[in-house]
Amino acid sequence: MPRVLITGGAGFIGSHYAHHALRTHPDWRVTVLDKLTYAGNPANLQDLEGNPRYRFVRGDIASRQDVERAVEGGVDLIFNFAAETHVDRSIGDPEGFIRTDIYGTYALLETARARGVKVFVQISTDEVYGSVPRGRSLETDALMPTNPYSASKAAADRLAYSYFATYGLPVFISRASNNYGPCQYPEKVIPLFVTNALEDKPLPLYGDGQNVRDWLYVTDHCEAIDVMLERGAPGEVYNIGGGNERRNLEITEHILDRLGKPRTLLRYVQDRPGHDRRYALDCSKIGRLGWAPRVVFEKGLEETIAWYAANRAWWQPIKTGEYLEYYRKHYKI
Ligand code: NAD
Ligand code: TYD
Repeated sequence: MPRVLITGGAGFIGSHYAHHALRTHPDWRVTVLDKLTYAGNPANLQDLEGNPRYRFVRGDIASRQDVERAVEGGVDLIFNFAAETHVDRSIGDPEGFIRTDIYGTYALLETARARGVKVFVQISTDEVYGSVPRGRSLETDALMPTNPYSASKAAADRLAYSYFATYGLPVFISRASNNYGPCQYPEKVIPLFVTNALEDKPLPLYGDGQNVRDWLYVTDHCEAIDVMLERGAPGEVYNIGGGNERRNLEITEHILDRLGKPRTLLRYVQDRPGHDRRYALDCSKIGRLGWAPRVVFEKGLEETIAWYAANRAWWQPIKTGEYLEYYRKHYKI
């Protein structure tokens, strides 16, 4: 029975992957290691309680002790989803990003090396390429991150690679585009705008609203990770994109229209400093392994909107306390 460590499994993508892993790999024993920061939510994993192949450890990937506690009894595969993930927060206060995203990845890599794991998956991001005005990023393109989040992710991405090149650790690196779907913390644009619209609050659109992101449904991302592992090669990087480039304005209008809310809820606000104009990935490398995204964007967005509309009990308690403090300070509205 392969022993699997999933870090950041109480967050958005990590919790989807933990469910996916237990469902599609009946022989895996899964430990989730999560610090439960503001973004970590035990509710995302609640239904796994009592599953004999699952256990949860609260701890910090940047603490060797915590990591050792999580891999007590051995570990065969490590998936590193844990990170500080919000660009705006990284601009306000980068330190936690350096600590978790860089140092935390280092601490995990050290444990992986000492224990001789069979697979180490580093969940990286398309943001490491920086803004792409034309064309699409290839895995071999230069990394030009522009904000503390993407810079710390780029450092972790290359640090993970260095453990392959130097120590022969079997490292796989995925660079995914913007994920969306249920259980995403409502600071990211889609859940923020959907929940604000549901509450008849303004949707704060940065700059001219013409920035472009490529949207990937979270379950497509989970499937791509498995394809990368099963058919890819260690030491390689794989771009994973949804093939759904959309301007932020289009998405905002779509959400308002879908919920039958007036366009007057759209509020142009001051732009994010260093706001990357466009991300776009060339995904032919993972395409050659037989992966393609399955979820059509309009359908995925519709399902996501429906999920937030039906699960107020999940997000309403989040949008209080520290969240509100952050929100008021950040948006000044
Ligand atoms: P998230 O913010 O929803 O969840 C992050 C999780 O990590 C939380 O549960 C949090 O408690 C945990 N965590 C944070 N610091 C930790 C620490 N020091 N030790 C242990 N746990 C810690 O993030 P997400 O959107 O699910 O992203 C998951 C991963 O995917 C990240 O590595 C992110 O960089 C990457 N990624 C995200 C996207 C996206 O669109 N969301 C796209 C590409 C890549
Ligand atoms: P976000 O969800 O923060 O993801 P990322 O910055 O990692 O791509 O933002 C997605 C896009 O939406 C990005 O171009 C910034 C924009 N955005 C807004 O216009 N308003 C907002 O309040 C937020 C959070 C994001």
